[in-house]
Amino acid sequence: MKPLIIANWKCNPTTLNEAKELLNSVVERAKDFNNVEIVICPPFVFLSSLINDSTAFGAQNCYSEDKGAFTGEVSALMLEDLGCKYVILGHSERRNIFKETNQEINLKLKKILDSSLIPILCIGENREDREEGKTFEILGEQLEACLNGASKEKAKKIVLAYEPVWAIGTGKFAEPSKIEEVRVFIKEFLSKKFDEDVSNEIKIIYGGSVDSKNVHSYLTESNMSGVLVGGASLKANEFLEIIKSA
Ligand code: PGA
Repeated sequence: MKPLIIANWKCNPTTLNEAKELLNSVVERAKDFNNVEIVICPPFVFLSSLINDSTAFGAQNCYSEDKGAFTGEVSALMLEDLGCKYVILGHSERRNIFKETNQEINLKLKKILDSSLIPILCIGENREDREEGKTFEILGEQLEACLNGASKEKAKKIVLAYEPVWAIGTGKFAEPSKIEEVRVFIKEFLSKKFDEDVSNEIKIIYGGSVDSKNVHSYLTESNMSGVLVGGASLKANEFLEIIKSA
């Protein structure tokens, strides 16, 4: 199985020209590396101009209703129509800055599961939780609430991104052996909640200060099926190095 290398551009860059340049400099030069599956998640406004058949694209969020009076929101139907393949859900910045709850993320997840889109569901503990030894408790709560009501059949396509909040954008990346423990916890949780087949199908990936030096450890020592890359995905050379090192 090819590792998934997902670029989360967040609220960057500020112009369409820069976005096109970034995409072209990555995609053109990544052509020779078919060892990985690359997914680019730009801001909504750039999606329709960037989307093309040779690369997989994702959105960074979406709403839980198809259409209607929801000012400022974008629906799964719109993203599907545009040709998007993935949607990031429940990123810690959505949870912390925009106060998204597990219940809201659950509604979004079920909407995405009913569509042709693939959800990239983010979970992760913050620094205090980890210091108080509550990592598994918090992850268990997030998983339980976010996956509530998801059918076994549909849950199989979920990509589950473990992103410890304290490792995001800080350069303080998590030790690969600690991440492996979390992977095992998530796998066991999924086996109990669904069954072993579903647990084996769901891809578990890591995110949080991933760069070209640590990516290989996450894919090998931590047995992750891929990585979600923020800051480093905005630097074409570094992102290419990540692809090469994967
Ligand atoms: P980072 O962000 O790579 O800049 O830590 C990861 C993310 O937020 O998905």
